[in-house]
Amino acid sequence: MVLSLGGSVFLTGEKDAEFLRQLVEGLRAVAKQHPLAVVVGGGKTAREYIRLGRELGLTEIELDELGIDVTRLNARLLASLLTPACPARPLTSVREAVEESSRWSLVVLGGTEAGHTTDAVAALLAERMRAERLVNATRSGGIYDRDPATDPAATLLKSLTFPQFRAMVEAGTDGRAGQEFIFDRLGVERLARARIPLAVVQGRDVEQLRNALLGKVFRGSIVAPAG
Ligand code: UTP
Repeated sequence: MVLSLGGSVFLTGEKDAEFLRQLVEGLRAVAKQHPLAVVVGGGKTAREYIRLGRELGLTEIELDELGIDVTRLNARLLASLLTPACPARPLTSVREAVEESSRWSLVVLGGTEAGHTTDAVAALLAERMRAERLVNATRSGGIYDRDPATDPAATLLKSLTFPQFRAMVEAGTDGRAGQEFIFDRLGVERLARARIPLAVVQGRDVEQLRNALLGKVFRGSIVAPAG
């Protein structure tokens, strides 16, 4: 099982310590039943660095690298909290994560290389590890027909196919550093190709997150291969 834990779930500025304690307990419990890889995002902190760097004229690749460093900072915090259940430092590539997951039932990493987000890292890892499912822990708690942050009439879509979801991701992203969309382009392509379902869940609700990770019924959305 692979978990993509959005940076905007990881740190919000509100009750983060309480949430992280519950999360760590939940992840340890899941990892006793299934091997688990957790990819942590950079959230608001990454976007703030990217916005500042862009204003100062940094290139897109330099902005991506700033973002990667922030994801690794978050991953380091999570890895330290999970020690000794996982390697104490965040892993830096999909290959290293695959190798280490033969020794550990829990591995943690942030970003890997420029040009995508941690959602794509999670999808690449899911493909390599032949994961049963990728769980995306988000702030929004699912996939909506419109942006729920700006449109109160937005409706939760409980189940979608990959072509439907891919069209939404393409309309919502253009590949630049620091974008804020529920998933990324490379990630959705890889999952569709590998026929790995994507579950989108409210990451701050640790019970729902555990359900999604254990393959139980959960509140959120599922993107599944057709047929
Ligand atoms: P995130 O994965 O945090 O992006 O990476 P996000 O979509 O903003 O996710 P949330 O809000 O945490 O859920 C932050 C930025 O770091 C760079 C990209 O610029 C990305 O937008 N990055 C990250 C990479 O270039 N490569 C990576 O492997 C990961």
